[in-house]
Amino acid sequence: MKTITVSNQKGGVGKTATVVNLAGYLSREHNQSVLVMDLDTQGNASWSLADSLLNVSAGEVLLKDCFDVRSWRDSCSRSLSSGIAVVAADSVLADIDSYDIKTIVTRMTAFLSEVGDMGVDIVLIDTPPSLGKALTSALLVSDYVICPIELEAYSLQGVGKLQNVISNIRKYNKNLQVLGLLPSMVDNRNKRHREQLALITESYPSLVIRHSIGLRSSIADALSEKTFLGDIKKSSARKAKQEFSELASWIFEAISEEGKNGTV
Ligand SMILES: Nc1ncnc2c1ncn2[C@@H]1O[C@H](COP(=O)(O)OP(=O)(O)OP(=O)(O)O)[C@@H](O)[C@H]1O
Ligand SMILES: [Mg+2]
Repeated sequence: MKTITVSNQKGGVGKTATVVNLAGYLSREHNQSVLVMDLDTQGNASWSLADSLLNVSAGEVLLKDCFDVRSWRDSCSRSLSSGIAVVAADSVLADIDSYDIKTIVTRMTAFLSEVGDMGVDIVLIDTPPSLGKALTSALLVSDYVICPIELEAYSLQGVGKLQNVISNIRKYNKNLQVLGLLPSMVDNRNKRHREQLALITESYPSLVIRHSIGLRSSIADALSEKTFLGDIKKSSARKAKQEFSELASWIFEAISEEGKNGTV
């Protein structure tokens, strides 16, 4: 089992869109059993994947002493029969920063071990736009991190900060590999976007993922309609489907072959 955290302390850069669509494409096109953990109290991933919710929430897993493993297993098997199971965000998570990080990580590790026993292949963790304990604990238990970025000057400033966070985490989690920076909501008709993409690719050539995601209304539509992007029939969704399908294939290959080109 591989655990991938999707992170960027900047808000609205496409973290949740990446989690939801990767879950869809990795399960549908690569036959992977995917568990999504929503660690953002906004609960956007839980909302878009509402059909796949488990009977246990993230606050119960990370912050409460115990949960009913037996009933959780039944619920997990049921959800996984359709390919995706979701541990929803809840209001308890709002208190996460008042808990001891070691305790959170211990509980998360124990939970992930249960998840592995259930036959899950890939865990995707959606994180909030802040550098709190939800993000830190996710990175501490993950094998990979992928960072969606928006092509605006201020988001590029954040990349350095993000690198510092990740290199600090690597002191404690030596397994953590950076899959890369994912240019998200790219508008190719926008000169500023084109220039920023060229600049960031030049600044971080080995970090920028070559499968960027365009600014496409079909992506926002699918998220708000709680529909798998691949099931959207409109011809305008064709490019969005192709982009996420290619990104999922690239990630699937990168995590299937350790140390393959593209991971750093
Ligand atoms: N490629 C895209 N094209 C068009 N709209 C998008 C795209 N990706 C995401 N969106 C929309 O942009 C908004 C922000 O995206 P998303 O929620 O994925 O960002 P986020 O990084 O998870 O935000 P937050 O930090 O608040 O959790 C959402 O309304 C979403 O539907
Ligand atoms: Mg989000």
